[in-house]
Amino acid sequence: MKNILVVGGAGYIGSHCVKMLKERGYNPVVYDNLSKGHRAAVRGIKFEKGDLGDKKKLARVFKKHDIEAVMHFAAFIEVGESVKEPARYYNNNIVKVISLLDAMVENGIKYFVFSSTAATFGEPVEPKISEAHPQNPINPYGQSKLMVEKVLKDYDKAYGLKSSVLRYFNAAGADDGGKIGESHTPETHLLPIILQAAAGKRESIKIFGTDYPTKDGSCVRDFVHVNDLSSAHILALEKMARSGESDDFNLGSGEGFTVKEVIESAKRVTGRDFKVETAARRAGDPAVLVADSAKAKRVLGWETLYNLDKIIKTAWRWEQKRRY
Ligand code: UFG
Repeated sequence: MKNILVVGGAGYIGSHCVKMLKERGYNPVVYDNLSKGHRAAVRGIKFEKGDLGDKKKLARVFKKHDIEAVMHFAAFIEVGESVKEPARYYNNNIVKVISLLDAMVENGIKYFVFSSTAATFGEPVEPKISEAHPQNPINPYGQSKLMVEKVLKDYDKAYGLKSSVLRYFNAAGADDGGKIGESHTPETHLLPIILQAAAGKRESIKIFGTDYPTKDGSCVRDFVHVNDLSSAHILALEKMARSGESDDFNLGSGEGFTVKEVIESAKRVTGRDFKVETAARRAGDPAVLVADSAKAKRVLGWETLYNLDKIIKTAWRWEQKRRY
């Protein structure tokens, strides 16, 4: 299997995965409508501009490039926005994905790697979240991803469409070369905001909530490098093609850091001081989200190569010379 259609491949995680696919001898083809993605993130890669919901265009692209598997990254990802505008989330993250899956079934493409999220679990009832943890999402974003997970089970039974569901915890960092990285407008994610404060592009960073039941009162998150996520995608795809089975994996480092700890680490790694303010809790934020990724390690042989300092270092390099 060589020809992989990467839907949403011009976005943050997609573009890193495309780069790794290419380096490992695959032939990735990016399919993106560039509503959020960046053409500059996939220079030198085969590119098709198109919308996720455009079945006819997808069918043409499948045939033209002899596509054998699809990786799907094109989603709306903001929890807060999903609460305010659920219709957009359900349309983009469910309705259009079903149309993509239908196009795959109609064209005989059997393998699908799906970007899901820790947000499908809702409030954790265990310290570390494994695949067996109950899934009770608390916002439309998490609901939309969980719904597709359910659709995928039924499509497997009825149509033999095999899927690998990958639930990311907090994706962060940038490629080591510093040519591609994270760029969202507006930016809402913790690490880029911290580093923009360190670079003097923002006045300060606000800590959302200092009264959580954690060791220093700020939220705990599990940061996983975007290249570690990419390697998991490739391992999952290869495993699925070998075994012919669908599966699901939670992807995190297994280690939690508080928001305050991330800020302190960023000050140390960058050597910059910046203003830190405290603010009210942000709606929809669970206090602690940490992955149990033992299954990905055991079944896929997945390893994470980047700790928090390395994640910050790569993101800092990107922040200083970002091109988009
Ligand atoms: N935070 C701040 N200040 C900021 C930004 C964030 O204190 O300026 C805090 C948040 O309150 C949260 C933590 O930093 O406690 C991480 O926030 P992010 O917005 O960076 O990430 P989330 O954990 O909210 O969301 C991420 C993904 C989502 C996914 C979720 C899964 O971005 O797509 O993990 O739980 F749904």
